[in-house]
This record gives sequence, C-alpha cells and structure tokens, in this order.
Amino acid sequence: MKKTAFVTGGASGIGAATCRILSKTGYRVYIADIQREAGQILAQELDDAIFLEVNVRNESDFERGLAQVMTESNQLDVMVNNAAIVGTLGPISSLTVEQYDLSQEIIQRSVVLGTKHAAKIMQAQKMGSIVNVASIAGLLGGYSPHTYAACKAAVIQFTQSVALELAEDNIRVNAVCPGAIATPIHTGTTGPEWQQTIKKVKESCIDFQAIPRMGEPSEIAEAVVWLASEKSSYVTGQALAVDGGATAGKIWRDQPEFFKSFHPVRS
Ligand SMILES: NC(=O)c1ccc[n+]([C@@H]2O[C@H](COP(=O)([O-])OP(=O)(O)OC[C@H]3O[C@@H](n4cnc5c(N)ncnc54)[C@H](O)[C@@H]3O)[C@@H](O)[C@H]2O)c1
Repeated sequence: MKKTAFVTGGASGIGAATCRILSKTGYRVYIADIQREAGQILAQELDDAIFLEVNVRNESDFERGLAQVMTESNQLDVMVNNAAIVGTLGPISSLTVEQYDLSQEIIQRSVVLGTKHAAKIMQAQKMGSIVNVASIAGLLGGYSPHTYAACKAAVIQFTQSVALELAEDNIRVNAVCPGAIATPIHTGTTGPEWQQTIKKVKESCIDFQAIPRMGEPSEIAEAVVWLASEKSSYVTGQALAVDGGATAGKIWRDQPEFFKSFHPVRS
C-alpha cells in the first residue's frame, strides 16, 4: 500500500518542497494549507497529491483533514507540522496579548494539535513518523522576533517530550531547525516581484552563516523527508539544525581582530 503524508503549510516554501520530494519518493501527499489556489496548483502538479483547506488554528480542521486521509488512504505514515508565520515584530514593551496569542496559536499550538491528532491514528497503527519544523531561533536568541523564538523553542521541547511518550508505540518525533532559507516568509510575496525581492534578501544573508549563502527550501525538505523515512529509524526526540553552520559558532570573518589570529587556515 502507498505511504501517506500530511504536510501543514504545504502550499509554499519548505512545505511545498517537502511535498515535492515526498511525492517523488512515492508517498501520497496531503497538502494542508489556508492558501487554496497555491495548494491546488501544487496538488495538480504532483503525482497523487490532494489539497486540503486546513487552518492550523482550528482543531476541527485537523480532525476533518485527518479523517479524510483515513477514509481515502486508511493510514497515516508521516505528519509534517510545518505551517507558521513570523508573527509580531518589535520591542517587548509594545507586545499585546492578542499579538502573542496569534503567534502562539499558529507557530506553536498548531504543532501540538497536529501531533495530538496524528498520534491518535499512529498509536492505533503502531507506527509513524512526526516531523516538526522548528527554527534555529528556537535554539539561540537573536535570530527572530521574541514571540517566534519562544514558540519555536517550545516546539523543540514539545518534540523531545512527546518523542519519549510515543517511542514505545513505534512512533518517532523529531524537529528540523532551519537557518535562513529563501522562501516567501521573508518577502511576503509570491508575485512577479518575488525574484527581485528574494535576490535582495539572499544578498543580505551571505554573512549570516558559515556557508556563505542562504539555504534553499529543498535543502530543508531533504532533512524533513529523511527524518520522516525509515532511513532514520533509530532517531527520535532530536532537533536537527540545517543552517549552513549558523549555530555551529561565530564565523571567523566576524571575529574581533585578536581572535582572527586563531583561525586554522586564514589570518
Ligand atoms: N524560511 C526560513 O528562513 C525559515 C527559517 C526557520 C524556520 N522556518 C520555518 O519553516 C516553516 C515553513 O516556512 P517557510 O519559510 O516555508 O514559509 P512560507 O511562508 O513559504 O510557508 C508557510 C506556509 O504556512 C502556511 N500557513 C500560515 N498560516 C497558516 C494557517 N493558519 N493554517 C495553515 N497554513 C498556514 C502558509 O499559507 C504557507 O503556505 C515554518 O515553520 C517556519 O517558521 C523557516
């Protein structure tokens, strides 16, 4: 029987790249997103993909979407909790409760709900793999707005906690922590101006990490699909940074002059 995957935020960026690779690998893919048009276009482009209109703020949308998966496909092998927004920017002094709650619902609570409903199905099957897309902003400060950082840190801790519970049901739960990746989350646009806008973002991100370029969505998707697959069968409760070395340490060219002399290759 064909393996089945459910990908939230699957209509764009990292989620869409994940759907593409899963589809090529032989999965039936459910693209769960609020972007109906983009999701439907992608579903048509891929082999055996179905678009589901799912708002990850609503628990009932997860229930409805996953019920459709079980009716049509009778199994859920992979759940990718990927949908998110950047959320509120600005200083802590101006943060409102409404802004915080919106970020928390979309970035963090959605992962809890997606995991809860996938786990119910996977526990009955006695197998499954859940991959949560977190961020390096959940590992270290300084990479994002406050609420985004807090929510992504919570996603990582939640991943570890639930992995421990579900291991005995043959369900693995892992997180991927992307660095700076060239997706519409940074531009707010997918229109004709996308190429020009993302080019500027890419130029500004050259010195963000040791590998001197922004990452591509497919480079995160490959890690997500590896964690989703049996190839990572002994990996659970992990948060894998895929970030061009951004969290490996301070890059040499940004060091104060004194420390530059420690550089093993160049002075
Ligand atoms: N791009 C980066 O640099 C980067 C870095 C670290 C982490 N991430 C994480 O990667 C994941 C994917 O982001 P991306 O960069 O591909 O961004 P993106 O904006 O291209 O994709 C996000 C998708 O989530 C969907 N979405 C947003 N709110 C939703 C809701 N309420 N219900 C359902 N779907 C919703 C959007 O419609 C969109 O399709 C996110 O979790 C993001 O936080 C991205």
